[in-house]
Amino acid sequence: MSAAVFPVPEDWADKALIGEDSYAERYARSIADPDGFWREEAKRITWLEPFDTVKDTSFDKADFHIRWFTGGKLNICANALDRHLVERGEQIAIIWEPDSPGDPVRRITYRELHRDVSRFANALKERGVAKGDRVTIYLPMVPEAAIAMLACARIGAIHSVVFAGFSPDALAGRIEDCGSRIVVTADEGLRGGKTVPLKANVDAALEKVAVDTVVVFNHTGADVPMVEGRDVSWSDAVAGVAEDCAPEPMDAEDPLFILYTSGSTGKPKGVLHTTGGYAVWTSMTHQYVFDYQPNEDGSMPVYWCAADVGWVTGHSYVVYAPLMNGATQVMFEGVPNFPDHSRFWDIVDKHQVEIFYAAPTALRALMREGDEYVTRTSRASLKLLGSVGEPINPEAWDWYHRVVGERRCPIVDTWWQTETGGAMITPLPGAIDLKPGSASKPMFGVQPALLDAESGKVLEGAGQGALVITDSWPGQMRTVYGDDQRFFDTYFSQYPGYYFTGDGCRRDEDGYYWITGRIDDVINVSGHRMGTAEVESALVEHPSVAEAAVVGMPHEVKGQGIYAYVTTTAGTDDSEDLRKELVQWVRKEIGPIATPDVIQFAPSLPKTRSGKIMRRILRKIAENDTGSLGDTSTLADPSVVEDLVANRPQA
Ligand code: WT7
Repeated sequence: MSAAVFPVPEDWADKALIGEDSYAERYARSIADPDGFWREEAKRITWLEPFDTVKDTSFDKADFHIRWFTGGKLNICANALDRHLVERGEQIAIIWEPDSPGDPVRRITYRELHRDVSRFANALKERGVAKGDRVTIYLPMVPEAAIAMLACARIGAIHSVVFAGFSPDALAGRIEDCGSRIVVTADEGLRGGKTVPLKANVDAALEKVAVDTVVVFNHTGADVPMVEGRDVSWSDAVAGVAEDCAPEPMDAEDPLFILYTSGSTGKPKGVLHTTGGYAVWTSMTHQYVFDYQPNEDGSMPVYWCAADVGWVTGHSYVVYAPLMNGATQVMFEGVPNFPDHSRFWDIVDKHQVEIFYAAPTALRALMREGDEYVTRTSRASLKLLGSVGEPINPEAWDWYHRVVGERRCPIVDTWWQTETGGAMITPLPGAIDLKPGSASKPMFGVQPALLDAESGKVLEGAGQGALVITDSWPGQMRTVYGDDQRFFDTYFSQYPGYYFTGDGCRRDEDGYYWITGRIDDVINVSGHRMGTAEVESALVEHPSVAEAAVVGMPHEVKGQGIYAYVTTTAGTDDSEDLRKELVQWVRKEIGPIATPDVIQFAPSLPKTRSGKIMRRILRKIAENDTGSLGDTSTLADPSVVEDLVANRPQA
């Protein structure tokens, strides 16, 4: 199979920070001499005290540990703000574009951001938040989300951002797991002209788990009830506090944040990232992947990552890395299709965006609406496009390249994970020829390998297997919060000595990597990661559900949709009403992103004689690929499958 190749454009090869030769040379050095390579890269950070050791890591069970830049002290907030004040204090850091295009834009300079962060940091301190304490942040895409995160980092508190689309139950579970005593939220969020009742959700969550303080940012001005002694408005919290707050010197390995993400089993895991390695890794990858350097006139290119701060992309490539790199960036509250399908491109024109980074699901949704919504805008400012969060199919890649970027903008398809902190396999626009659908080549310091999924043997050359990383990189997660054993078991036990990504991958004859998707029980719905087990446990909590099995199904826009097989309790009528009720139930239990696309009532599920559900078969039925169900002879009752096939709902 020979895929199309788009060579590095000449102007990019000439001016990019990393060209073809320097990619090869630096990559080789990063592997042969990690200490020397990372010592050099670490210079991008202002250290308060130098580190003694660069890399001190082992994936072996007997001696398992991951430490980078030990002995070094730094504050990542000071790296994002304070050190820019002399040179670019008056430069715009954040251009905030509201949900509704008619509402006022906010432009915040580095100096203003520094002041607002310092004040909020002092407000947190006044409420008793100290170094090491956890702070839950449940905010919409407003600058205050970044301010709250940076304020935590400034005083050494550990933030746990919960995506504002999650339900009260999901929020309560995350507050409880990390034991935070404080929640920062807003009265309401806004998305596509609709309000999201954030404070009401917090109140509902706090019926299950108690905290001492709720700080409420007044965003829409809705009249929300405030609990005396617990709730305080953001403006009251910062009223009268000092404007300067000395950044806390943090050890390189001090925790920076917890971010919950789904796995193949159990409850979402609190992925823990630490300070020094994350700072070096995210700022380096952001600089090279987006070739982030001053324009010829000395201005900084306007950068826009359309991810929500509730996900890791928002942490690394909205909040931390762009600010560490002195960027001017757009932060957008709304959605791509409001007020119409031109919104992304209208914003590009309005703010003269040069670098644009988004998820394939949004592109696929816009692609369906036709080219006119794109072509009626100028987009002349665009220079570089990025893709993240899920495999981008060649059709969407082609549309992005041809229609949005008018064949002028390279596309960086960045593969990475919550666990990896930043981009791991990705093109560099001045160095790597593009193949649509391939995340291409490893970032510096990243050693991917493909293993035969059964034998665990390393595959050489072209082939397909389980994607692992053979050695540590600075931005790697350090543990599952409060559960070191789960960290080791989840990522290092299946293939001993390797970090297992959960993804399948193909490598072609040119050494390009093609991610094929998850090979565990994790699904990727519109770029949102979900454990099938989570959706199953939400379903079985409904009184009419006896058993549930959830699998992914191909979905034109979402990438994957959610297909749920539900066995109801005896005597229950498998009605259309119940189906609707179950859909609402899951939305309420987890959040709208977990909305099942298909619910099939199943009198029973295909199980082995030992009682294990055969998901392979359920996936095939969901994919409507019933001609190749494979071996069903090990099933306790093969007729179950025939029944499921015969009664598959027509989508
Ligand atoms: C999973 C991680 C990347 C940060 C946001 C998502 C899938 C991510 C790509 C890509 C193919 C991708 C993988 C990965 N994924 N980027 N460019 N090409 N697949 O982080 O929620 O932790 O999800 O997203 O399956 O394992 P996440």
